[in-house]
Amino acid sequence: MSKLQNSIIQGDCIEVLNKINEPIADLIFADPPFNIGYKYDKYYDSVKSKNYIAWTKTWMQACKKNLKPHGSFYIAIGDDYAANVKMIADEIGLTMRNWIIWHYTFGQQTKNKFARSHTHIFYFVNDKDNFTFNDHAIGVPSDRQLLYNDKRANPKGKIPDDVWNQYSRVCGTFNERQQWHPCQMPESLLRRIIMTSSNPKDCVLDPFNGSGTTAAAAIQLSRNYIGIDMSKQYVENTRKRLEKLKKLTAGQKRDIMLTQLLIDMKLSPSEILSSKKLLTLFANQLKIRTDNDQPYDITMIEKSLKDLQSERT
Ligand SMILES: C[S@@+](CC[C@H](N)C(=O)[O-])C[C@H]1O[C@@H](n2cnc3c(N)ncnc32)[C@H](O)[C@@H]1O
Repeated sequence: MSKLQNSIIQGDCIEVLNKINEPIADLIFADPPFNIGYKYDKYYDSVKSKNYIAWTKTWMQACKKNLKPHGSFYIAIGDDYAANVKMIADEIGLTMRNWIIWHYTFGQQTKNKFARSHTHIFYFVNDKDNFTFNDHAIGVPSDRQLLYNDKRANPKGKIPDDVWNQYSRVCGTFNERQQWHPCQMPESLLRRIIMTSSNPKDCVLDPFNGSGTTAAAAIQLSRNYIGIDMSKQYVENTRKRLEKLKKLTAGQKRDIMLTQLLIDMKLSPSEILSSKKLLTLFANQLKIRTDNDQPYDITMIEKSLKDLQSERT
């Protein structure tokens, strides 16, 4: 195992990645500054467009060099440069599998145009015929199962759509909010990406670590991680954030999977608890997602849901 695994490195990601210069990552998630004037500790987020595009190509190339042949590469980007990212990806030999829209309702209000309420998430792979896609780990019950009692329904559920609207932006009041970073991704969104495109013990790399969300989600899902950020302060704070997560027990990790399924099904604990049918579908989907040999004990699931319900009230 590379000695860089499970570390958060301070430095310029292009320099760090070019120094590593070998395929070590099974999965890369990159959420660069969008060049929209955000206030970061060290990075200046308002540069000339042509410089930003040239820089984007340089860091994407550096990432590709560190991606394993069967690896996946996700990039989050705003409207202004989404087209450039796609064109650069084509140029450097990545294959796009999905152009995902992350839609959120907790956006900034505007006075004279429509409020911006989405981010683009590109899902690329190195090899169009050889990649990890864990459909079982991200499945959700289909409408055929939930609404229509249709016998033709696939009992394993369905793969979610490419518009993701169940992951709220991280509000100031959320437990996971890291007040010291200006823009953090939700852990639930990173968990979906990691569950889809990597396996336990794989290496997940984030060249723009920020508050450390990718590494946090990687630990929750028993993956290895590498994070890089130019800010000493963000790196030190991330290391503290991760320390707490390294103590998660197997039971706590299972509860995280349960919470993830709740979010993905867009239902509250009380909604599931109020219907025997929903509870059975939920337990079945959790078993499939976690590859459990035996069905889960419904009483145990009910208890976890009740605990979650009381945490939320
Ligand atoms: C949009 S934020 C990432 C947020 C992260 N996804 C999260 O959930 O917390 C971008 C981060 O990239 C860092 N950054 C900017 N340029 C960088 C570079 N050349 N090398 C490494 N980090 C850089 C900034 O300090 C900032 O923390």
